[in-house]
Amino acid sequence: MPDLKVNIAGVEFKNPVIIASGFFGYGKEYERFYPLSQLGGVTLNGTTPVPKDGSPTPRIAETPAGVLSNTGMPNPGLEILLHEALPQLNGSGTVVIANVAAGTADDFARIAGLVSESCADMIEINLAAANIENSGLSFGVDAKSVESVVKKVRIACTKSLIVKLPPHLTQIPDLAKAAEAEGADAVSLIGTVFGMRIDIQTRHPLLKSNTGGLSGRAIFPLALRMVWQAANAVKIPVIGIGGISRWQDAAEMLLAGAKAVEVGSALFSDPFAPIQIIDGISNYLSDNNLRSISDLSGRVECWK
Ligand SMILES: Cc1cc2nc3c(=O)[nH]c(=O)nc-3n(C[C@H](O)[C@H](O)[C@H](O)COP(=O)(O)O)c2cc1C
Repeated sequence: MPDLKVNIAGVEFKNPVIIASGFFGYGKEYERFYPLSQLGGVTLNGTTPVPKDGSPTPRIAETPAGVLSNTGMPNPGLEILLHEALPQLNGSGTVVIANVAAGTADDFARIAGLVSESCADMIEINLAAANIENSGLSFGVDAKSVESVVKKVRIACTKSLIVKLPPHLTQIPDLAKAAEAEGADAVSLIGTVFGMRIDIQTRHPLLKSNTGGLSGRAIFPLALRMVWQAANAVKIPVIGIGGISRWQDAAEMLLAGAKAVEVGSALFSDPFAPIQIIDGISNYLSDNNLRSISDLSGRVECWK
């Protein structure tokens, strides 16, 4: 049997398949499908300092090859994460990653500091979040902004820190380097890509917020390119996210340089997708006489 284990920033995952934030609630919801211990890791829904109801509905719509959404990150807030959700997952046998977001760098640091005292194994900070001190632009808008938030979070955060980058058309290597320079233990990418759909009968956009984030299969090639660029830019581990729905997609992400992958929208149509991806990767390694994930990760043979 090939060895599927991966080590990211000192945390051992039994396989490289992690649930992405926004799809698994706080983990318990999926336990009726399979034990969480089968998964490499689970990233919990994004949590903000105070509870949020989320955006007005409709806030999620189907597209031919993906999902368009603007959920506004509904969540019960930090207190519930710390005192109910995380303790319930203690001993679940999988790596538990708390995903957090805030409107200021100081709040990001405060929340990361508090989660550091919990039983979460790792913290992922979502830099797609809007910075209220910078006209609501995303924290991931440029390298300087990434540096300033990661610097503050790093001081407060004593857990392994994953910095999640939003898709940036041109600056991905710079954003990844900025996160690394300020002490991130790993970067994960990508978040959703801005998109829009219109109902031609009513002439209304499908989402109440008019625009939203596109995820799912449609974004896979874009995500793969960015993961490859980030992996070539930094020494810290890169976690590949975006449109992964089959084991072949995960294999491509690993070849491009990801050390692990996060699976999100695929869960909407098939809750078992992550399990099939784990099995598929294991068979692919065996069929190709590869002993471990490190024999695959970053082994793309690019044309000269
Ligand atoms: C409904 C929904 C909710 C999401 N919530 C979060 C979140 O709370 N925190 C976060 O970092 N990313 C969130 N994301 C982004 C996903 O984690 C992921 O980066 C993105 O969907 C791309 O992966 P996918 O194509 O596999 O879905 C959300 C995405 C969707 C569609």
